[in-house]
Amino acid sequence: MSGLRRVGIAGLGIYVPERRLTNAELERMVDTSDDWIRQRTGISERRIARPDELTSDMGTAAARRALADAGVEASAVDLVICCTVTPDQLFPATACSIGHKLGASRAGGFDLSAACSGFVLGAQTAAHFIATGAAETVLVVGVEKLSAILDYRDRSTCVIFGDGAGAAVFTTLERSGRGEFLGGSAGMKGGTEDVLSLPAGGTRFPASHATVDAGQHFIRMQGKAVYRFAVTTFVDVVRRTLAPYGGIDRLDALVPHQVNLRIIEAAAEGLGLPMERIFVNIDRYGNTSAASVPIALFEAREAGLVKPGALTCCVAFGAGLTWGHLLFRW
Ligand code: UT7
Repeated sequence: MSGLRRVGIAGLGIYVPERRLTNAELERMVDTSDDWIRQRTGISERRIARPDELTSDMGTAAARRALADAGVEASAVDLVICCTVTPDQLFPATACSIGHKLGASRAGGFDLSAACSGFVLGAQTAAHFIATGAAETVLVVGVEKLSAILDYRDRSTCVIFGDGAGAAVFTTLERSGRGEFLGGSAGMKGGTEDVLSLPAGGTRFPASHATVDAGQHFIRMQGKAVYRFAVTTFVDVVRRTLAPYGGIDRLDALVPHQVNLRIIEAAAEGLGLPMERIFVNIDRYGNTSAASVPIALFEAREAGLVKPGALTCCVAFGAGLTWGHLLFRW
C-alpha cells in the first residue's frame, strides 16, 4: 500500500450470551438427533441471547473488551462499523446504538450487511479509512442475534445458527504495534436471493399478515447449495491469497468462518493444509454469521495459534452470495 499509511489491529474482544442451547435440547424441539448434528455440522451447542438482550448490547460488550485490549478510550473512536444481518431495527443503524452505549461521542457509524462475510468486509473498510488518513481509530463489530429470526420448528436451520459478538480495533500500525493488515478481497454472486435469506420485512415482501403466516420472517436456506459454494470458494480464495507469499505452506494460521466442520475439513484437504493450523470453535458456538470470524480470531489468539509474527488469513462466505478474506501478520 505505497503512499498510504500502514494499518494494524490494536485489540480484540468478544461477548457470547450465557445461555447454552445443547443438541440434547434441540432433540426435544424438532425431529433431529445429537448424532446427526455432530456428524453433519460438528456443532455440540450454541449460545442464545436473552429476549431482552439486543444485538447492540452484545456488540457493545464485545467492543468494550476490544477497546480495553487495545488500550483505547471510546471517546477516541472515529468510526463504528457494525456488521450484522440482525440489527436492533431495520434502521437506524445498530452502529449508532453501539456508539451511544460505549460513549463514543465523536464517532461516526454505519451498519454493513454482508451476512457471514460482514466482518472481513468491515475490517477492510476500516483498514482503508485508516490507510488514507480519513480516520485514526475504527471499531469493527461483528454481531448477530440469529435466534430472533430462526424458526425453532425448522430442523434444517435451527440446529446450525447461534448468537454472539466479536470486535476489533483498527489504528495505524505505528500505534497498534501489531496485527499488520496486508490485504483483503470481496466477491459476490447475485441472483442467489433465495439460496439463503430472510425473505420478508424489506421492500420485496413488506411485512404483512400474509408474510407472517407464511413464515417469511424466518431464515430460509438451501443448505446443499451453500455447502457446495462454500467449499469451492474457501479453497479458491485462500490459494489465490497465499500465492504471492510463496504458497499455502507459508500460512501460519487460518481462521475461517465457522460454517460447518465438514466444509472446513474438506477445504483443508483441498488446500493441503493440516488442521493444526486451522482454528475451529464451531462445536461450542455453531454458525454465528458476522460474529463468527471475530470470535474465532479472538479465541485463536487465546489458544496461541495466532501469535506474534503469525501470517494469518481469515476467510468468510455467506448469503448474497458474498465472500472475502483478510490477510494480516499478527
Ligand atoms: O454461513 C452460511 C450459512 N449456511 C450454512 O452454514 C449451511 C451450509 N450447509 C450445510 O451445513 C449442510 O448442507 C447442512 C448441515 C445444512 C445439511 O447437511 P447435508 O449433509 O447437506 O444434509 P441434507 O440437506 O442433504 O439432508 C440430508 C437428510 C435429509 O433427509 P432425507 O431427505 O435424506 O430423508 C434431511 O431432511 O438429513 C435431513 N435433515 C436432518 N435430519 C436430522 C436435515 N436437517 C436435519 C436435522 N436433523 N437437523
